[in-house]
Amino acid sequence: MSAKQQDDSSRVYIFDTTLRDGEQCPGASLNMREKLDVARQLARLNVDIIEAGFPIASPGDFEAVHTVAREIKGPRIAGLARCVNKDIERCAEAVAPAGKRGRIHVFLATSAIHRQYKLKKAKDEIVKQAVAGVAYARKFCADVEFSPEDASRTEPDFLAEVVRAVLDAGATTVNIPDTVGYAVPEEFGALIGYLFEHVPGLAQARVNVHCHNDLGLAVANSLAAVRAGARGVECTINGLGERAGNCSLEEVVMAIRTRADALRAWTAIATREIYRTSRLVSQLTGMVVQRNKAIVGANAFAHEAGIHQDGVLKHRQTYEIMDAEDIGIPGSELVMGKHSGRHGLSERLEQMGYRLTPEELERVYARFIELADKKKNVYDDDLVAILQDQTAEGPQVYALDYLHVSTGTATVPTATVRLKRGDKILQDSACGDGPIDATFKTIDRITGTAGKLLDFSLQSITKGQDAVGEVSLRVAYGKDVVAAKGSSTDVVEAAARAYLNSLNRHLSAGPAAARAAPA
Ligand code: KIV
Ligand code: ZN
Repeated sequence: MSAKQQDDSSRVYIFDTTLRDGEQCPGASLNMREKLDVARQLARLNVDIIEAGFPIASPGDFEAVHTVAREIKGPRIAGLARCVNKDIERCAEAVAPAGKRGRIHVFLATSAIHRQYKLKKAKDEIVKQAVAGVAYARKFCADVEFSPEDASRTEPDFLAEVVRAVLDAGATTVNIPDTVGYAVPEEFGALIGYLFEHVPGLAQARVNVHCHNDLGLAVANSLAAVRAGARGVECTINGLGERAGNCSLEEVVMAIRTRADALRAWTAIATREIYRTSRLVSQLTGMVVQRNKAIVGANAFAHEAGIHQDGVLKHRQTYEIMDAEDIGIPGSELVMGKHSGRHGLSERLEQMGYRLTPEELERVYARFIELADKKKNVYDDDLVAILQDQTAEGPQVYALDYLHVSTGTATVPTATVRLKRGDKILQDSACGDGPIDATFKTIDRITGTAGKLLDFSLQSITKGQDAVGEVSLRVAYGKDVVAAKGSSTDVVEAAARAYLNSLNRHLSAGPAAARAAPA
């Protein structure tokens, strides 16, 4: 799209809800410090709005929205609230530090199925509650967004009635969610067109869309809505979110950029920050990005077939529609060596989106030097991998001090583990089905807390036989499901670190907060 065409009317505003809807993904919860790291990186990515949480849901959610509103400059900061006075008051308090950049986002379900079974309310009561919620929110904040939850399954004429009413009540943005990922693109685009046609004044407000990915159509539906005139897309990094997730930010942004000719729209996203943001969110949430994921997957720019390699070497665009550099994918550059100092390391980490306390930097530096001793080349991705187990918020309840495993085809796999808990050294041994199982069983014996392993995967971070291996796992401690990662050049050690990280997260999080979470 030419500069002339990049006028405000074709700009699509990017509303990132990684910290709210994304964080509702089971096992992906982030602590305060991690939320702030993500929010800082979202600001670098230049998103227009950060939805930082649902303040009434828990004191932790309130704190997250409040802190993000206080610390992050640039994007607008939104908090979510039901159309209920106490939710709205709490949300207003949470976003207040953002001043004029604060937004209250209120929602209420409108579809017949939600009205009848969930809310047990008639249409007129829904309209009344939506209007009251918006009007009350406007008393605290000039920027109020309203979402008719399950809009795509709502009768279009009733949806138009609700939208008309909330606009009259003072909503400045109306968001049309496909809450259960039921819509298909043509139909969803047509619904947006229908609303523009039947709601006078809608063109003067901002229309957002918020699509879930249950049928794998979240990005397609969002783009169909953009074609129909929506100018805000709600999305998450790596498509994180409940069930099959939300519309993926990187996909929708790169589709708009790559196919500006077809979509006639643009965003202000700093696309070179996309890859770094994706890695940060994956690292902190423990949610692995599938290798063949569009835009940010490890294979997204890899060419295996000889015929493709030949084509790309002759002319890159024969098989590549985007330039990896535009997404910020590094050419695996060598970043640090064992003679690099703490200052250089902390600067590099800051450029990558991580801000460490002096104590954390000390711990990361010690692991970095250990790694640089074992491994010839230390890449950015290696650094990211060693960060996770060194930067957990609060005290690291247990730290790995020593690990020895004996295993083989004719040996019963046995592990000896020594852990530190404060000044105490705790040691034990156990046998298992394999060296990793033996290690986990030993950790369970030492800590007296048995986790149930739900998922386990191992990925090599960089290339070569001395590459750092990264273990991602999900562990259930009763009802608390925790995702964590651990890394090392030794895969059993990586597994032990990941398992201990999950346990530390579980122990320092306290009882899981009850949440009144929407989809
Ligand atoms: O999916 C949904 O409907 C939501 C709303 C609260 C916007 O997340
Ligand atoms: Zn949602």
